[in-house]
Amino acid sequence: MIEGTLPRHVAIIMDGNGRWAKKHTLQVALGHRKGVEALRAIIRESSDLKIEALSIYAFSTENWNREKQEVEALMALLLEYFTSEIDELDQENVCIRILGDKDGLPPPQREALYKAEERTGKNTGLKLNIAINYGGRAELARAARELAQMALRGEISPDEIDEKKMAQMLYTHDLPDVDLLIRTSGEMRLSNFLLYQCAYAEFVFPTVLWPDFDINAYHAALSAFTSRDRRFGGRNK
Ligand code: IPE
Ligand code: IPE
Ligand code: MG
Repeated sequence: MIEGTLPRHVAIIMDGNGRWAKKHTLQVALGHRKGVEALRAIIRESSDLKIEALSIYAFSTENWNREKQEVEALMALLLEYFTSEIDELDQENVCIRILGDKDGLPPPQREALYKAEERTGKNTGLKLNIAINYGGRAELARAARELAQMALRGEISPDEIDEKKMAQMLYTHDLPDVDLLIRTSGEMRLSNFLLYQCAYAEFVFPTVLWPDFDINAYHAALSAFTSRDRRFGGRNK
């Protein structure tokens, strides 16, 4: 049991698959595969806890810098995931949205992602945002570009561009800001994830590697969140 008000929007940087593989003298691809298993349990638990939105970082715009073999393994796993899990996610009423540039992915992956969004788009349960080929800076640049085009077309005046308008141009336009950001493996950085949406997020950094992140570890992170004193620049009595 977790006491207190749960976060509406949880974001997770699933980090440590490589180190997990190394620790077990396995190939890195097996670490990623084990990471998918951990993810499955966290999605189900988020649904059960009635968390509104879960945003997970699966592949960053910077991850293209990894060795070709690892990128290929990740792309293959991605396709496998969307093929094998979609029925169950749909049955669980999960609504999938992809954050990031789908069109920059190889055609089979791109199509699987479009299909998953289309198939689950009307589901009313957990909003599962999967960041793939995602970068926070790219997302902000895209928002700025969109607003500039709207201004050129005369649909808005530059004076009207405020924080709310910016937020409306993001992938997360209809979702609350991130309340809790979890990054596993002990690393303490954002690595270009949800820069705008995390402005007032509470950060929790469990040292456990992502494949070992289980429901107990998740509950511990949620409990850490509920005990935080969120002030948003003001003062709590
Ligand atoms: C995170 O695990 C998964 C992805 C980036 C896809 P890593 O692969 O970054 O794991 P470490 O940081 O090397 O341990
Ligand atoms: C962030 O992890 C990206 C994902 C978890 C998908 P990385 O492991 O790629 O981040 P850095 O390179 O350590 O900052
Ligand atoms: Mg890493």
